[in-house]
Amino acid sequence: MEAPQLLKIANEFGSPVYVYDAAKIESQYQRLTQAFSKVEKLQINYAVKALSNVSILKLFKNLNSGLDTVSIQEVLLGLHAGFSPDKIMYTPNGVSMSEIEEVATLGVQINIDNLSILEQFGAKHPHTPVCIRINPHVMAGGNSNISVGHIDSKFGISIHQLPHILRIVENTGMHINGIHMHTGSDILDIEVFLYASEILFETAKHFKTLDFIDFGSGFKVPYKKGDIETNVEELGRKLTKRFLAFEKEYGRELTLVFEPGKFLVSEAGYFLAKVNVVKQTTSTVFAGIDSGFNHLIRPMLYGSEHYIENISNPKGKERFYSVVGYICETDTFATNRRISEIKEGDILAFRNAGAYCFSMSSNYNSRYKPAEVLWKDEKAYLIRQHEVFEDLLNNQLPIEL
Ligand SMILES: Cc1ncc(COP(=O)(O)O)c(C=O)c1O
Repeated sequence: MEAPQLLKIANEFGSPVYVYDAAKIESQYQRLTQAFSKVEKLQINYAVKALSNVSILKLFKNLNSGLDTVSIQEVLLGLHAGFSPDKIMYTPNGVSMSEIEEVATLGVQINIDNLSILEQFGAKHPHTPVCIRINPHVMAGGNSNISVGHIDSKFGISIHQLPHILRIVENTGMHINGIHMHTGSDILDIEVFLYASEILFETAKHFKTLDFIDFGSGFKVPYKKGDIETNVEELGRKLTKRFLAFEKEYGRELTLVFEPGKFLVSEAGYFLAKVNVVKQTTSTVFAGIDSGFNHLIRPMLYGSEHYIENISNPKGKERFYSVVGYICETDTFATNRRISEIKEGDILAFRNAGAYCFSMSSNYNSRYKPAEVLWKDEKAYLIRQHEVFEDLLNNQLPIEL
């Protein structure tokens, strides 16, 4: 989206505000399906955790996408958005047996990632099809918090425990219809991904009743010009070849599943915030905005560097700024960044604000969560209004003191 459009939206809906470009979401979805077009049965399950607004989920439904969910609440949101249960995959980590059973009752595909639940679930529900999340112990991912396939990770069942898995499956007679991995986010090296896939193929041979293999996600997207991104086209060519060969070896057609979040929505999102104060100190010029890590925590949590543009003065002379929030602790979005000259009242646009931005927002410092706008067919739709004071009191039960 261009600066004038974004500025118009900020003027119309106020700041701070999240804006999502539907056309970009659609083109990313098509890009991925195109990269794997030679696979007969391809299933893309959008990872709801990245951005869970119901209008965004409906957009994915219209694209014929499925959903990847990690909590019963995400499952319920998906059903509310109109997805049928068989298009939803549930991949929890560390949740209770009762939640898993409740989701299974809804008819959603269960993915189990620990031996204890596998054994309990298999014993009680041997006829419910279950997918198993394998940890291939491949180190991938751009940051230690999002690198989840390594030896110390809490995710998945270790590949070294395969004999144990097989014993449970045999003893319970449970029905395993899928096998899954997700090694982490921001994978740069396709070869690492392909290597982990080989481990998954090897594992798959031990299960005779599979309908699908889920390769998770982790596609890296560019944050600024010249950034390296996962080459999904190359991955498509290489993995498709290997997948088709495996299908022959396995002796039946399988569905190839991916569950991307970031790849599908990151670049479609913009976060617009107003500069409240320009503060010159002895060493730095700070631009203090009407937001903080309560709205966009990624720079503080993961060190992610969102490209920031002054859309009120896009062609102005560039100067160095540190962009900071209003939260009462260190709250830095960018340090010594070249941004076209900023005046108080200007609107800054943060790029890559589609994934893990609004969905990670909070009310810290008792601030309201911002509005969300969907830009579709040259029209701006308000898809969430910003919060008001009542929202802060909602669910509180005041007592007489
Ligand atoms: C199990 C699982 N699948 C898919 C995803 C989506 O990953 P990404 O946003 O990197 O595509 C995640 C992210 O944390 C995940 O945990």
